[in-house]
Amino acid sequence: CGIVGYIGREDVKETILSGLEKLEYRGYDSAGIAILNGDGIHIYKDKGRITNLREVVDFSQMGTLGIGHTRWATHGIPNRVNSHPHQSSSERFTLVHNGIIENESILKKEYLQDTKFTSDTDTEVIVQLIQKFTDKDGDVPLAIRHTLSLLKGSYALAIIDSENPDVIYAAKNKSPLLIGKGEDFNLIASDAMAMINHTNEFYELQDKEFVILGRDEVSIYNLYGIKLDRETFKGEIDASDIEKGTYPHYMLKEIDEQPFVLRRIIANYQDENGKLAVSSEIVNAVKEADRLYIVACGTSYNAGLVGKSLLENISKKPTEVHISSEFVYNTPILSEKPLFIFISQSGETADSRAVLVKIKEMGYPSIAITNVKGATLYRETDYQMLLHAGPEIAVASTKAYTAQIAVLSILACTIEDDCSFDMLNELSRAASVMEGLCDNKELYENLAKEYLIESRNCFYIGRHVDYYTCLEAALKLKEISYIQAEGFAAGELKHGTIALIEDNTPVVAIITQEKINLNTRSNIKEVKARGAAVIAISMRRLSAETDQIIIDDVHEKLTPLVSAIPAQLLAYYAALYRDCDIDKPRNLAKSVTVE
Ligand code: G6P
Repeated sequence: CGIVGYIGREDVKETILSGLEKLEYRGYDSAGIAILNGDGIHIYKDKGRITNLREVVDFSQMGTLGIGHTRWATHGIPNRVNSHPHQSSSERFTLVHNGIIENESILKKEYLQDTKFTSDTDTEVIVQLIQKFTDKDGDVPLAIRHTLSLLKGSYALAIIDSENPDVIYAAKNKSPLLIGKGEDFNLIASDAMAMINHTNEFYELQDKEFVILGRDEVSIYNLYGIKLDRETFKGEIDASDIEKGTYPHYMLKEIDEQPFVLRRIIANYQDENGKLAVSSEIVNAVKEADRLYIVACGTSYNAGLVGKSLLENISKKPTEVHISSEFVYNTPILSEKPLFIFISQSGETADSRAVLVKIKEMGYPSIAITNVKGATLYRETDYQMLLHAGPEIAVASTKAYTAQIAVLSILACTIEDDCSFDMLNELSRAASVMEGLCDNKELYENLAKEYLIESRNCFYIGRHVDYYTCLEAALKLKEISYIQAEGFAAGELKHGTIALIEDNTPVVAIITQEKINLNTRSNIKEVKARGAAVIAISMRRLSAETDQIIIDDVHEKLTPLVSAIPAQLLAYYAALYRDCDIDKPRNLAKSVTVE
């Protein structure tokens, strides 16, 4: 979910609505806003996207203070009643919340036996508690801080008190929240993108802090009510970075940006002699570790698998890759000197953060590889490596994935004293090959039309690092086109899954590794013999009668950087011709800040 709040002297509706549009990547099951003016509080909400919300907002209601929310449903189905903002029974307090309250039922039992709840959400308990404690003491900030001290779980909150039109209250724990400082206004939002059209000056908030936002001042407190000093910082995003320009979809724009991102990564990881380098602290930390543990989710996990291959093959560093949500419960037996590498585009994923909290308690060091400077994982790890991919808006990750692989390859090379790999040259070559692949869109469009758009399912097969690319390729296709897709180690297909191959079942074979290409080619024959319709993504022309996407040579260790591109574009065109919502696929959110 994403939240926005504004207090100033201009009408608030457009600022909140367009801010929410920028946050839709965080969820789009339902949305709502609340505006306070002389007539009282006005709440508009609806299920679905911000465009739906715009239709129910009464634009004649003016107000200079408001809050808004876009939701990725956790508790309660995404209907109007469960949409935020939520109100206390007396309607004095109105609140939006991103996160999950874990002790909701205990709090209800202990403090709110007599309160009538109107929604199924965990959020309503917060606003009812604030009301309850205010009724008792009359001191609103105290009532909010008291409530916060009882909450277990994650929250980013914005709260309006109808009896005080001069402040918005806000607080955070585990969920992200940033304050934007303006000339006679102030803002809060889940991230900087929602505020960038208004200000580029921000205050960072830490967990368990409480904020009183006025029109001209911002006061930050801890939960004991002690006022804290905080300097502002300048944001790094440019408003033009988050526009689609002439592209029909962000995803297509972001796919096309990959060669440029790769060159930017090369430029950012060079020392004064023009050699690829990462900071000596990171090099030392990695060298000192006896084993690396990569922890990530989704696409970042798939990049981590490629990273393992790079780290083990280039720098001989034993590396394990773990899914964040499993790691917490299913913790592997750790080596004596482990070093954790958190890969996360957003730097906010709650599943990954839970692992970070755990390994910090155990006293182990960590690196974040992330696209967002200042994000939670960036702040809370010991070392950081930025992806320099620029804001990624489409929910399905593309340029951040290849950026993660590029940064991991640089790390692998720089920790190896005798690295014979001319990484700088090889990465530059990969950037040129990426460009050529991006220019070949008609081919992918035709193949997607011919093989994929009518299909119920699709299989990707590959060996070695191509297997990892297959996992990512399948994830891309299922995320945006809703075709059921699976990535398989090519040799494993015959041990079960080949039973699913029927006439015209699409199989995409990825073959970039010379040594094992014959084996995967045999697997192509096996599936073709059973009726499959095969597309090959490969470095060499295959003799078999198979439609092919040929990739120009890049170093064999870096092929995942380039083979990802045809796979991304096949998924894109499949989704396009299936009329899917490419940038905002159903049920997904780009940044999942709940476990
Ligand atoms: C969500 C997104 C995925 C993403 C994953 C990890 O589930 O829908 O596209 O790969 O989170 O996100 P992160 O920001 O940690 O890389």
